[in-house]
Amino acid sequence: MDTVLSGIRSTGNLHLGNYFGAVRNFVKMQSDNNCYFFIADYHSLTTYPTPENLHNNVKMVLAEYLASGLDPEKSAIFVQSDVPEIPEFYLLLAMNAYVGELERTTTFKDKIRTQPENVNAGLLTYPVLMAADILIHNADKVPVGKDQEQNLEMARKFARRFNHMYKVEYFKDPEPYNFGEDLVKVPGLDGTGKMGKTAGNGLYLIDDDATIRKKVMRAVTDTGPTEPNSPVAEPIRNLFTIMELVSTPDTLLFFKEKYSDCTIRYGDLKKQLAEDIVRFIKPIRERITDIISDEDYLRKVARLGAEKARTSASKTLKDVRQIIGFRTF
Ligand code: TYM
Repeated sequence: MDTVLSGIRSTGNLHLGNYFGAVRNFVKMQSDNNCYFFIADYHSLTTYPTPENLHNNVKMVLAEYLASGLDPEKSAIFVQSDVPEIPEFYLLLAMNAYVGELERTTTFKDKIRTQPENVNAGLLTYPVLMAADILIHNADKVPVGKDQEQNLEMARKFARRFNHMYKVEYFKDPEPYNFGEDLVKVPGLDGTGKMGKTAGNGLYLIDDDATIRKKVMRAVTDTGPTEPNSPVAEPIRNLFTIMELVSTPDTLLFFKEKYSDCTIRYGDLKKQLAEDIVRFIKPIRERITDIISDEDYLRKVARLGAEKARTSASKTLKDVRQIIGFRTF
């Protein structure tokens, strides 16, 4: 049985990118694997949440996990900061991570460009903390979206480096995972790029019907195809990509054919897409609303998850300390 681990930062509500890139696979994998799914609240500190927001964001992601179908009986569902073994292991891994390689990661370079006034050390060592999350359970598979590929590469590198340095075969190679298909990148509604939390181009699992319709109707399009069978321009391709995830194959084909013969009306495309997204999100949103008010249940889930995660994490940490050479007097 494989060990599966993944997490999501608690920097805001989950959007369809998080759902289709990650959470959908968490749900599919939980019956046949030994699963750990967590809320990365330490990682969220790079964006400085207020003390109230910190906890509320964690609570929200927990409710969203459960509403999406994660089952606390099958998976360990936990909060990163409930597992003190993770920061200790992070410290040990940081000793074998080179500043040069951390500086070269795309996400770090992006941060230097977009927020030069706040390039903190937490951003630099972000991949080390992520590797600690993964390796502390010695995960085989890590279900993530396309944007996490490089972070996973770093985790594999740190795992191999540790094995090599101490001449052991302790850590396995954790693989990014998406059921034999390419990793997913869900596009945003603004015509370019991926759906993200900060870009303001996202559709959230808690969005109400009116909000969804409004966002989709405002999505960026173009002036339309002028020649039959012309390649689909990016903003429209993005809408088709989202349609592929939430609509029936017939619906998608219908609009693609209309695009090909230049009879497409973007208003109709958007109306259909909005209705399909509403149908998809509504039941999840209703479950989130129910679960979020049940503090007792959330507490029970987080406690049970932390217990399972700590059992596994403390075993790895004990082994690692032994391998490195720490001995108690
Ligand atoms: P985060 O919180 O940015 O995103 C969580 C998950 O959602 C996926 N995702 C997407 N997938 C497809 N299309 C999109 N537009 C899209 N946007 C987000 C991400 O690929 C990710 O799988 N560093 C991680 C959190 C983390 C983690 C870990 C993940 C911390 N430790 C250990 C796996 C294992 C992050 O910031 O994801």
